[in-house]
Amino acid sequence: MTPLLELQAIDHVFADGSTGLRSCSLALARGRRHALLGANGAGKTTLLQHLNGLLRPSAGRLLLDGRPVDYRRAGLADLRRRVGLVFQNPDRQLFSAQVEEDVSFGPLNLGLDAATVRARVAAALDAVGMREYAQRPVHHLSFGQKKRVCIAGVLAMEPEVLLLDEPMAGLDAPMQAELAQLLDSLAARGVTVLLSTHDIDFAYGWADDLHLMVAGRCIASGPAPAVVAQAGLLHASGQRLPLALALHAHLVARGVLPCGAAPRTVEAVLDALPVVPIHSQQGNPI
Ligand SMILES: Nc1ncnc2c1ncn2[C@@H]1O[C@H](COP(=O)(O)OP(=O)(O)OP(=O)(O)O)[C@@H](O)[C@H]1O
Ligand SMILES: [Mg+2]
Repeated sequence: MTPLLELQAIDHVFADGSTGLRSCSLALARGRRHALLGANGAGKTTLLQHLNGLLRPSAGRLLLDGRPVDYRRAGLADLRRRVGLVFQNPDRQLFSAQVEEDVSFGPLNLGLDAATVRARVAAALDAVGMREYAQRPVHHLSFGQKKRVCIAGVLAMEPEVLLLDEPMAGLDAPMQAELAQLLDSLAARGVTVLLSTHDIDFAYGWADDLHLMVAGRCIASGPAPAVVAQAGLLHASGQRLPLALALHAHLVARGVLPCGAAPRTVEAVLDALPVVPIHSQQGNPI
């Protein structure tokens, strides 16, 4: 099946001559949850910014639905309507004085009528738990709250592809869990989600597909278990083995768990442990 979005052998050279991407190829299968991993400076942000046309390739091409993207005004507008990007730093994304106004900006630009815009904004703010902040000034919000408003702004565009640059960074644990659930529900409705992260445990537990980046190139892509099984490539991209896999391997080696497919989260490994009563030295249960 044709990937929804595909980078083919993209180079990106910045104005100062630094290289952001070098012959980077990556395909996003439709409706799946994708995670992008790589060390600082590996090119994750540069890659995400190519996928919604914020940056243009110096060489290579971007395909949407199998067709090369047209970088003229109408083509770019179509790409950005279908592919939404949530920036790493919310202060770079938010520019209106008030929350509701900021989230309305994209849908208003699509030329939607006022009632539809109101409904979309309310639904997007609900989805990120920020409805009660609709009238607040943006500069009064905390970092995490600003991040949620950014996500709402992109959700209000109802994109087919949602790109998020390190969305979990700076969010508290309950909000991270809520965001993961929100992304799951979007993926279940057919939205293709790609996020960058430094948290391999989260990526392995959440994503269907993983993509590893090293020095401006994507060196491995595919279903999460197949990618982490390539230990050399995982190491080359600065990642360690997910804890769930390491723990599972350790317990299998000690004969505590049977061989077989490893669960994707530490919680699932713990759930798989046999229940054995703990005995005191005298042999009495404690
Ligand atoms: N505007 C720019 N001008 C010049 N070089 C840049 C620019 N933006 C990024 N780079 C360079 O491009 C490379 C890739 O940077 P990028 O920000 O994409 O990495 P990243 O994987 O997102 O890193 P991080 O995990 O720190 O966010 C780095 O070497 C960086 O120094
Ligand atoms: Mg980055």
